[in-house]
Amino acid sequence: MKLTNATLILLLTFLLAPTQLLASEQQALRDVEIGHQPEEIKRGALVALNLCVLCHSLKYVKYHNLQEIGFLPNEIEPFLRGREMSQGILSSTTHESANDLFGMVPPDLSLMAKARQNGPRYIYSLLLAYHEQENSAIENTLFPDVKMPDVLGYSVEEDETMRLEMEQMALDVSAFLAWAADPRAEERRSMGKYVIAYLVILTLMLYLVKRKTWARLG
Ligand code: HEC
Repeated sequence: MKLTNATLILLLTFLLAPTQLLASEQQALRDVEIGHQPEEIKRGALVALNLCVLCHSLKYVKYHNLQEIGFLPNEIEPFLRGREMSQGILSSTTHESANDLFGMVPPDLSLMAKARQNGPRYIYSLLLAYHEQENSAIENTLFPDVKMPDVLGYSVEEDETMRLEMEQMALDVSAFLAWAADPRAEERRSMGKYVIAYLVILTLMLYLVKRKTWARLG
């Protein structure tokens, strides 16, 4: 088969299209490092429990799991609202009311950080992508038709200190949702250091053994 220039260009466009799409989507995300520190995760949990659960559930995060990020049982209690410690975190809005309000049930947030590409950064960027337009309508530049309102109130806040505080809240809640989607990640990270140290020592020892063996042979 003879490849004409046109088919070649068509083929290339077709092959490269997804990477271009990906690139433009990634550019829209804010350039930020989402933390892994326990205090950030705990602060983020408080944002989620006080604000996000008004609409969202986190059914795979059990209330007692919050103890893994530094909550004491008596700090969890106020959020239980009649549920058991062994149950998943439930939204305070029922599915019916959510449907009435938004025409949909807001998605569960337990695995959201994994469900979206670059999840934690995406969540952070989404929460801060609200802008007030000329006609006072609020739009989200990252997700233009999103049915979630500007829950932090970032688009209309003018006070710089408050804006910074909201950015910190978005950062913390993203750190918390990253933890929620992968609670063992930190363990793996610290385990990785030991594994590498072990491999370095092992390599060194094997090298010394080899040198000794060869010295004897020579
Ligand atoms: C007033 C109700 C409400 C509150 C409070 C709320 N959300 Fe939402 N959220 C929604 C709705 C509704 C959707 C569905 C949006 C859609 O798909 O159009 C949504 C969707 C999302 C999505 C998914 C977007 C996507 O890509 O599909 C994320 C992430 C999210 N919310 C994070 C949060 C976080 C984090 C908080 C707390 C800081 C929060 N939400 C608080 C109503 C809410």
